[in-house]
Amino acid sequence: MNYEERITAADLSGYEEEAVEVSLRPKRLEDYIGQRKVTENLKVFIEAAKQRRESLDHVLFYGPPGLGKTTLAGIIAAEMGVELRITSGPAIERAGDLAAILTNLNEGDVLFIDEIHRLNRSVEEVLYSAMEDFALDIIIGKGPSARSIRLDLAKFTLIGATTRAGSLSAPLRDRFGVVCKFEMYENEELAEIIRRSAGILNVDIDEDSLLEMARRSRGTPRIANRLLKRVRDFSQVKGNGVIDMDITSRTLDSLGIDRLGLEHLDREILRLIIERFKGGPVGIDTIAAAIGEERVTIEDVYEPYLIQAGLLHRTQKGRMVSDLAYHHLGISTGEGDQLSL
Ligand code: ADE
Repeated sequence: MNYEERITAADLSGYEEEAVEVSLRPKRLEDYIGQRKVTENLKVFIEAAKQRRESLDHVLFYGPPGLGKTTLAGIIAAEMGVELRITSGPAIERAGDLAAILTNLNEGDVLFIDEIHRLNRSVEEVLYSAMEDFALDIIIGKGPSARSIRLDLAKFTLIGATTRAGSLSAPLRDRFGVVCKFEMYENEELAEIIRRSAGILNVDIDEDSLLEMARRSRGTPRIANRLLKRVRDFSQVKGNGVIDMDITSRTLDSLGIDRLGLEHLDREILRLIIERFKGGPVGIDTIAAAIGEERVTIEDVYEPYLIQAGLLHRTQKGRMVSDLAYHHLGISTGEGDQLSL
């Protein structure tokens, strides 16, 4: 299965999904749950910028997909009382595309560039002077008659988001005044997010079901909200409209999501390393080829949670599974252990 089709794929995008996701997004900082380290600092920087009547310094968000980077960018714009403009690295193909976006921004506006590590070089270079001097240097004409003109821009705030901070060039990284790392959410935080979303969607859900969904959401709000919607579907069609443990378990089992929130492909990765490579170490490219997924997809989408859950380790020589992975899959480590799923 392609990762875009997985229910737990954190950056799956479909119109219906996206519309509901947007409706569930908190609009103000006080409604944003989790990422305390990030939000507490941002609160200060927002307040300070507002007191000085300045635009907020450029901000870089990094961390796995689905943790609320776009949501927080929207909140920053709302708290600053400015407009938010959303685009992404791959969508800005040429320097001219970026110039068109930048020249349309008003004083203080927030420009959010998702997947900023995927900007191409020529676009990135235009961004440097825009970020630093709020100006664009444009070359007009060709050959000996070519000349450069400088175009002033409104003082905007760039919020860049990336799943891989290491892929950002140093000159770009250095131009962000604030750098925030997004962590996976605790189960209690996810339960709170699901409770809030259930309230917005107007569905009844009991405490046990909230926690069960939280446990199976891989530390990711986007997945938690998606699971909630699927459980709501099941309760509507096969139950009485109320979400309890019975309907929650039935939904999650039908979707092939196990007790740790793993799906078929997560288990496939672990099983491959155990059965074909004796638990590892094995190189990421070998895993990618055997599974039929791109290396970056495995690195950005699957691995973060497998590592966080203590099922997989990255070592100098390659990936290794932990004893916990054997236990979880009900496979013997060959050391006389007792196993359970
Ligand atoms: N929905 C998605 N992410 C959220 C968060 N961090 N807090 C509240 N609701 C959310």
